[in-house]
Amino acid sequence: MNLFKTYLLAWFLFAVLLPVTVFSQQTTVIASGSQPRFAQKALKPISKDLFGVFFEDLSYSADGGLYAELIQNRSFEYSPDDNKKWNPLSFWDYTTDGHGYGKIAVESAQPIASVNPHYIVLDIDDPGTEGVGITNSGFDGIALHSGENYDFSVYIKLIAGSRVPVKVELRGKKGISYGQFSFTTAGKVWTKYTGSIKALADADSAKLTVVALAKSKIAIDEVSLFPRNTFRGEKNGLRADLAQAIANLKPKFMRFPGGCLVHGDGLDNMYRWKNTIGPVELRSQQRNIWNYHQSYGLGFFEYFRFCEDIGAKPLPVVAAAVSCQNSGGVRGTGQKALPLVDMKSYIQDILDLIEYANGPVTSKYGAKRAAAGHPKPFNLQYIGIGNEDKQTDDFRDRFKSIYDVVRAKYPDITIVGTVGPFPSGEDYDLGWKFADKLNVPVVDEHFYQKPAWFLNNNNRYDGFRRSKSKVYIGEYASWGNNLINALSEAAFMTGIERNGDIVKMASYAPLLANLSHISWNPDLIYFNNKTLFLTANYFVQQMFSANQGDLYLSDVIKFGLPAAQTDSTLAASCVKDSGTGDIILKIVNAGDKEANTIIDLAGLKIQQGSASLELLKGAPSDKNSISNPDAVRTVKDDIQLAALKNYVAPPFSLSVIRLKTE
Ligand code: AHR
Repeated sequence: MNLFKTYLLAWFLFAVLLPVTVFSQQTTVIASGSQPRFAQKALKPISKDLFGVFFEDLSYSADGGLYAELIQNRSFEYSPDDNKKWNPLSFWDYTTDGHGYGKIAVESAQPIASVNPHYIVLDIDDPGTEGVGITNSGFDGIALHSGENYDFSVYIKLIAGSRVPVKVELRGKKGISYGQFSFTTAGKVWTKYTGSIKALADADSAKLTVVALAKSKIAIDEVSLFPRNTFRGEKNGLRADLAQAIANLKPKFMRFPGGCLVHGDGLDNMYRWKNTIGPVELRSQQRNIWNYHQSYGLGFFEYFRFCEDIGAKPLPVVAAAVSCQNSGGVRGTGQKALPLVDMKSYIQDILDLIEYANGPVTSKYGAKRAAAGHPKPFNLQYIGIGNEDKQTDDFRDRFKSIYDVVRAKYPDITIVGTVGPFPSGEDYDLGWKFADKLNVPVVDEHFYQKPAWFLNNNNRYDGFRRSKSKVYIGEYASWGNNLINALSEAAFMTGIERNGDIVKMASYAPLLANLSHISWNPDLIYFNNKTLFLTANYFVQQMFSANQGDLYLSDVIKFGLPAAQTDSTLAASCVKDSGTGDIILKIVNAGDKEANTIIDLAGLKIQQGSASLELLKGAPSDKNSISNPDAVRTVKDDIQLAALKNYVAPPFSLSVIRLKTE
């Protein structure tokens, strides 16, 4: 059967299986009006989960990024494994400002918990006038906002002495104080002390000092400082501006916590979700594959909660029981497979994850979710198994074992498989063959390419087989943050919408990058410890995601090109959002000349008057930066329907036009 016939057959089956409400809309075939060049418009149902985000903890996206903790190395677990130059005292200074003296040591004999073994012991002979203690410099300095509250906590155990006064202070250069408070510690066992400081002024590189003011010997661990103003004011919460920027994308789903981070650099480095839940001081931490440390303060509970907060369906990814093929710095051949004897408990961990998200409070893991403050299930619908894995027998065996068990126990969960790191090649072909054999519901494709690739691949999925696995484009980006990069992605995204029947989901990658710790470029949102800027690519994602539809309309927009001429710099799509009834047009002109369009809205029952227009345009090399965050931005306007018929798309632009229907 040729491709076209397959396509027709798939369409027929799709239409027959549609629920009545959608079916009745789909059968409304609209005759073209004044533009006889247009074929009849057909309404095609497309994925409601099309545009989402992919969060990976790289470039300090979690600790020092989205996770709002301001203290770096709060539990003294940094080590040379994370980074050759690090140790448990990294980012801490020993503080004896008022000529006090004593000793500081890192110990591990009697920790709060064995999974968090290191703590420090201050043995203070003489506190001097200012006390003896420790100072943390945060993540490139602690940023403070005048008048805002900062919540502090610490675990202390008194080893010698009684009723030791402790002072906590936020300090700037030259001894300036941004606020302080004191308490008295008396516990001979690990005891949590809390307090808060209202910042007296703005600061971008304050430090936190904790000093004991009496001769004593005390143990200290889990020194923490959070802005009270986290996203939605949540405890152990997220940095408000970054979380809001993600929320403003209106993502329909969020894939987390990686990427390469998930399958890890060797088996010991694989991401294990169970290490990331429960009280933070009991979470077992580890090296981040991107060469830093994961405190796991942002763990699976916090990921699920964030997804719920922003209305995004969670898509957690677990390793397919094999490590990254580049493990140990061996490119392509470093994949390590979990011994078969460990597979049973590994698969149980995955079942437990689903129970943690969806199980009743009476189940073992549902009870843990409830204990964390969320008795209601998180409504998990998707789970990813594997990431870009090399297609080996080891991978296939382990993937199949996981897949079979998860599918049998949770048939309603959609499993997302993987087909290698590239848009073609050996892993891609073998990955698809394997997915076909297993009938995997969705597979995850990744593209990091030049802008020209995105422009030339607008039709990548037009001829794709409709009868097999659906596609999740889990990671894609053109190499850069200039406007032209963003527009090439926009052009490609019109193709995603057109093929939203088989492309179920898509997410740009990576999402976040701390400007001082970039593991990967380009990214969607850049930030420092105080502020952030949004890239041109961000605006494209936002314009598509906030203007998503669930029905695709063909034959609405044409470009005024001579017959038989095509131009890959021009692309357009039209969708209907059946919730609002709105018709949404997206027109991309990635070329340097104005592009004439012919728009045929006949039969669509458009309300008379004006429509809303959102426009992103500029010079191809325009880009935002921390010093010029608004070089590229969108503008909103109204456009009269009469002017829309022959809309002229400016050079280097994306236009999104939203029309109300009667
Ligand atoms: O997005 C950055 C990395 O790119 C991801 O970790 C990996 O999946 C891909 O190779």
